Amino acid sequence: MKVLFASSEVWPLIKTGGLGDVAYSLPHALQQQGMAVRIVLPAYQAVLKKLKSFEILGWLALSVAGKEYSVRILQTQHDKFSLPLWLVDCPALFDRAGNPYAHEEGYDWFDNSERFTLFSLAVARLGMDDLKINWKPDVVHTNDWQTGLVSAFLDQEADRPKRIFTIHNLAYGGYFPQQEFQRLQLPSQWWSSEGVEFYGNLSMIKAGIVYSDQVTTVSPSYAKEICTSEFGYGLAGVLQHRRYKLTGILNGIDPEAWNPQTDPLLPYHYSAKRRNPGKKKNKQALLESNKVEATKENLEAPLLGMVSRLVEQKGVDMIIEAIPQLLATSTANFFFIGTGHPHIEGQLLKLSQQHPQRIMVSIEYSEAKAHLLEAGCDLFMMPSRFEPCGLNQLYSLRYGTLPIVHRTGGLADTVIDAQFEDEKNKRINADATGFVFDIATASEFSTTVHRALAIFEQKKLWNQLQRTAMQQNFSWDKSALEYIQLYS
Ligand code: ADP
Ligand code: GLC
Repeated sequence: MKVLFASSEVWPLIKTGGLGDVAYSLPHALQQQGMAVRIVLPAYQAVLKKLKSFEILGWLALSVAGKEYSVRILQTQHDKFSLPLWLVDCPALFDRAGNPYAHEEGYDWFDNSERFTLFSLAVARLGMDDLKINWKPDVVHTNDWQTGLVSAFLDQEADRPKRIFTIHNLAYGGYFPQQEFQRLQLPSQWWSSEGVEFYGNLSMIKAGIVYSDQVTTVSPSYAKEICTSEFGYGLAGVLQHRRYKLTGILNGIDPEAWNPQTDPLLPYHYSAKRRNPGKKKNKQALLESNKVEATKENLEAPLLGMVSRLVEQKGVDMIIEAIPQLLATSTANFFFIGTGHPHIEGQLLKLSQQHPQRIMVSIEYSEAKAHLLEAGCDLFMMPSRFEPCGLNQLYSLRYGTLPIVHRTGGLADTVIDAQFEDEKNKRINADATGFVFDIATASEFSTTVHRALAIFEQKKLWNQLQRTAMQQNFSWDKSALEYIQLYS
């Protein structure tokens, strides 16, 4: 079976979050199961800079917003990829510094609607083998709003491939005003409540939902949640009506990129069986990376970490609210790595200035530091208000850094709460892998941190939890098969 997999970001070439990780690891897992897969990505400036050579597969003449674009399709190989990567090369729209969606100074590109309409149109044409290279996919698998229009464009073709659309995050809908729909000169028959129209605006994610043959999201719990008004971002009704074609398939992780025994970004390696001294030495390296002296006291104190986009979804504000009380009532120290809303960045920096020995903050995007934090911390904080799947809790489990999570979406599906099983607090459930709380408030979070810290003091129980967490299997094997079943 031939699969064309389209995404607006693909690790290690360009990534702003978990979509990039999945767009790398899922296609590779599909390939391992015998699928012939091509990944297609816009040829951003940052991506072209990382690649050594390309072959020109062909040219597409595409018309968007009344402009005629002559777009090159490049095929390239990269050390990390065992399958061909295709790039949609349209310099006028993609040859810019900055991330896929925003200028270096943080604001969204003014022409994002045009950029991702063109990308989607290119993917649809590749799906119809317009290059005449004798490679017509059986399935076009698209991801999030940036590729939502692909399924709509393919709707106009009788002999089209099957269309699978994966929702990684419903909070980002690719919404643009009606004038923009007109300016883009999109087919007028799409403008209806059964098409791309959403409360008077154009919604690219809705296009993906409506026009695809199958819709998936990245965990079973999130598939249920998005059909409710609380999590549906106005699309709950649209999704409820299409429940027959909606499936939740849990994300896997790349077992090579995230393996504490071999991770090239870690100074010290360790395994589930032999965690120390490797884990502790990583803790020392992590503290020292932030110029905090790794005294015996510091190495023994629990270290709670977070790597995150600093946005409302992730519940960082709950942690910030809980911190003064946690500092006063425990010996815990905190380490944050992230970028995002300036006011959240500012609040974290202020806390670290007030408590330089206990709160460490790196406002940056650093893969090396993210891996070191996963290895060097004792606990990982992920009190997300909603979480379609979440990868960081999976990385944390693998690295023996027990996650503290809010029971929502993929967090609920992947972390098992530690509960005492006897009155003397000597035994916890054998399947426990972390700490889960039910209500997203600072006080629930704080209570759960205290619960975790009490177990941290009981080394036997802590060891049991770490071992169980590290032995969990979140490889893609099972989930890739579920996708293949859908494709079939
Ligand atoms: P989301 O996709 O919603 O951001 P996930 O948990 O699915 O959440 O994935 C986030 C990914 O982005 C992880 O691989 C995480 O390590 C990475 N990440 C987020 N922020 C940073 C950062 N500041 N530096 C390095 N990696 C980061
Ligand atoms: C989104 C979600 C995250 C998920 C990731 C990959 O960014 O916020 O929960 O893990 O996509 O599917």
